[in-house]
Amino acid sequence: MTAAFDFKQYLRERRADIEQALDADLPRPPACPPIIADAMRYSVLAGGKRLRPILTLASAEAVLDHDGADPKLREAGLALTMPAACAVELIHTYSLVHDDLPAMDDDNLRRGQPTSHVVYGEGVAILAGDALLTHAFELLARQPSNEPFGSNERRLRALGRLAEAAGAVGMVGGQALDIRTTGAKPENGEAEGPLSTTAELREIHERKTGALICAAAGTGAVLAGGSREIVAAIEAYAAHLGLAFQIIDDILDVEGSAEELGKTAGKDAAFSKPTYPMLYGLRRSRELATEAVLAAQQALADAGLSGPLHEIANWVVTRNH
Ligand code: IPE
Ligand code: IPE
Ligand code: MG
Ligand code: MG
Ligand code: MG
Repeated sequence: MTAAFDFKQYLRERRADIEQALDADLPRPPACPPIIADAMRYSVLAGGKRLRPILTLASAEAVLDHDGADPKLREAGLALTMPAACAVELIHTYSLVHDDLPAMDDDNLRRGQPTSHVVYGEGVAILAGDALLTHAFELLARQPSNEPFGSNERRLRALGRLAEAAGAVGMVGGQALDIRTTGAKPENGEAEGPLSTTAELREIHERKTGALICAAAGTGAVLAGGSREIVAAIEAYAAHLGLAFQIIDDILDVEGSAEELGKTAGKDAAFSKPTYPMLYGLRRSRELATEAVLAAQQALADAGLSGPLHEIANWVVTRNH
């Protein structure tokens, strides 16, 4: 990557590509009932940073550049990674729809608009989440398999990684711990109360947010044919990045505004949520996020990887929404 690399431009272009692919990939009537198509589109196409699919594409790029792929192969490789990038974003969006439900964080603002259950009711919001999750795996299974880059073996490995990260040992497990330790929500009668140890908090963050971010990057690296060592390096990078990302999310809940964030601020304190600012204070939390980002970038440097992944890490820690 040269000094002339324009990261903002890169993000704009990747986002536009991803949004076009998401729009094309989401089911439409008459293949499915209009109500579920509408609810899926409502949450997916409402914007969002698209960090996770960008990571999938950037990880594939890092592998292709490391392996010295020629420009044609590089373009073809990236195009073939797009369905996986979309699948990651669909899984993420499903997690947001369910995270906002009254039974969980009970939020009414997401991506700058009313949450899915506010618009469509709880039943349809739950089903839209279910449909987004299942559609993600349909997309992965549909990926072309008649060329070397998108081999079935790679796709199966990528699919397994994503499924594991999204499920009980990853995001769903983290969300279960998160709601169990939420103290103040009155109807959450079985809550265990605020956390006592920093190790518990780190585990929640690594599972609920880190796992999918790690799999987003790992999926791109696997699909691009990265060696075992390179995939491991990219996943190590993304594991540090995922922790930094959720620490900053916790900080922004304290310091940000609904206008900037597109979601309600101050919710974590109102619910006595387990967060980094709660256990470490704001200043130390920011230091910990910066340390995690430096560790992420070190993992890249140690493996001789270049490209946008380095800049993505800076973005994660300097973002204001
Ligand atoms: C919010 O994720 C949920 C967390 C895991 C913290 P993002 O901050 O990436 O949300 P969008 O996709 O930009 O809306
Ligand atoms: C959500 O964490 C993590 C998910 C798996 C969705 P948060 O509950 O902190 O996310 P926000 O702040 O509502 O976006
Ligand atoms: Mg939550
Ligand atoms: Mg939430
Ligand atoms: Mg949050």
